[in-house]
Amino acid sequence: MTEHRDLVDALIHRHSTPATCLTEPAPDDDTLQRILQAAESAPDHGGLHPWRFLVIDGPALDRLGEVFVEAMRRKDPEASDELLDRERLRAQRAPMIIAAIAREEAGHAKIPEVEQLLSAGIAAHHVLLAARASGFGAVWLTGLRVYDEHVMAALGLAEDERLIGLINIGTVKEGAPTKGKRRRQATIDRWAG
Ligand SMILES: Cc1cc2nc3c(=O)[nH]c(=O)nc-3n(C[C@H](O)[C@H](O)[C@H](O)COP(=O)(O)O)c2cc1C
Repeated sequence: MTEHRDLVDALIHRHSTPATCLTEPAPDDDTLQRILQAAESAPDHGGLHPWRFLVIDGPALDRLGEVFVEAMRRKDPEASDELLDRERLRAQRAPMIIAAIAREEAGHAKIPEVEQLLSAGIAAHHVLLAARASGFGAVWLTGLRVYDEHVMAALGLAEDERLIGLINIGTVKEGAPTKGKRRRQATIDRWAG
């Protein structure tokens, strides 16, 4: 039972690490394999497996930065070099980004789309938790870029897929926050009928 107590403790103390506080090294392939395996136990009504992940690291991060820049240029041809540079850097802060992708089957006889999206979100959160439990820092980021058609096309998303997060992962830098902020005290609200 200790195992379960440890998990609750880890959940209570879970926090993100800002992408600017992440550095090399990223998880190696064995660790990455385990982190991604953690997603496979996400609750999944009907076993539709409505998620997948793309690992982006090394030179692919530079290419992702260019995709972000191009997306911004298409939206705003007048965007300043400063803004474009900042956008490029968003792909280059952490040494690894795991793109979390949800696939929602429309009109399924039994499983509403919202349930499929929830499963994908939980799978992504398992990745976040597993990265942290493996000794790395991580943060789930989106920003408008994940909803951008150019970004989704460049990542090869299908029509029925959407990007739900860019999970930045890396080794936590010295001085990074060691606690989460804004934790509320949970309350027990009972419905008595
Ligand atoms: C779907 C989703 C998208 C998010 N997108 C962003 C984002 O684009 N930028 C950001 O600063 N935080 C974003 N967050 C919040 C961070 O991941 C993180 O939870 C927040 O900074 C609070 O830190 P904590 O996780 O330590 O409580 C997002 C969270 C979720 C679940």
